[in-house]
Amino acid sequence: MLIFLSTFGGSKLKILLTVIVRHVATCNSVKKQINTNHNQQIKFAIIYFETGVKIKLFLKKYGNWNKRQTKHLKPHQIMSESYSIINTDFVLKNEASILISDLSIQRGYGVFDFFRTINNKPVFLEDHLDRFFYSASKMQLDQHLNRIEIKQFVHQLIEKNNISDSGIRITLTGGYSEDGYSLAKPNLLITQSAFTFNTDIFNKGIKLITFNHQRQLPSVKTIDYLMAIHLQPFIKSQNADDVLYHHENEITECPRSNFFMVNEKDEILTPSKNILKGITRKNILSFSDLDVKETVVTLKDIKTAKEAFITSTTKNVLPVFEIDGKTIGDGKPGRITSEIYKMVCKMKEG
Ligand SMILES: Cc1ncc(COP(=O)(O)O)c(C=O)c1O
Repeated sequence: MLIFLSTFGGSKLKILLTVIVRHVATCNSVKKQINTNHNQQIKFAIIYFETGVKIKLFLKKYGNWNKRQTKHLKPHQIMSESYSIINTDFVLKNEASILISDLSIQRGYGVFDFFRTINNKPVFLEDHLDRFFYSASKMQLDQHLNRIEIKQFVHQLIEKNNISDSGIRITLTGGYSEDGYSLAKPNLLITQSAFTFNTDIFNKGIKLITFNHQRQLPSVKTIDYLMAIHLQPFIKSQNADDVLYHHENEITECPRSNFFMVNEKDEILTPSKNILKGITRKNILSFSDLDVKETVVTLKDIKTAKEAFITSTTKNVLPVFEIDGKTIGDGKPGRITSEIYKMVCKMKEG
């Protein structure tokens, strides 16, 4: 009976009923009747059941019962209330799923893109869609939705979820592969999570540690972040915030951001090849007031950097204060970095 009642109610109800039942059970006369009279047992069961219903209704009407579930939503509850899109279906986020035969799970095969919304408006959506379609075609993933349809879904999701400041991720997977290896019809997943840009991180800056590695198919935004995640304990052990990849002495990028440096002649340099062409990087290159050179940047070059910073959709512009234990500039955001940061924020926030 207790099991039945506890499945009926929540934890508060369960505790309350446990106390009542224990109290009654310790009463000798009742104990006797329960032990000896089967009909009485059924009667008690009915009484407890009715009490359970009444307590639940009471809590629902006057107590915290309702408030806890609807008004004071915790972040994970907000997430569970929001929608995602799986192919063309809107699905509650905590119920959204794909099958394990998908190539993304079997072999880590898929692409994605990620952009922000500010005040319910997508930021640089066209640029992100350009890159998304480029990534999909490079990976031979045949889109079953065209650009206009994807845009419509994105706007519908924004309207439905109403998460004003967020990050939206569009993922295209290798699909349900029969042999776990061959490409199949891709699955499209569009998810949205709350995201607010933290302005405090700009002044804190970051420490980087260089690492020799070249991402596979670097111009494609694949779902493969294998080395980046694998290196997390190493980064921690070096007291750094992230790695800066180089390949045969040429700097490329960080696992989730592009790299820029300012040299002694106040020239702004950024690696030109073997990188993912970031949308934030693209915006910086487009500023007519700035003269940014896309070029080869070597391990030797970064040793003489006056300023350095990384860029991405979530970080905007983040100053680098240290690389491989060597301080860059005076450990504060440099003049050029600060200017570029302001320009990027203004461009994004309108
Ligand atoms: C490998 C890599 N490079 C650069 C970037 C920065 O690109 P964006 O400015 O479009 O966020 C990212 C973003 O996640 C990335 O994964």
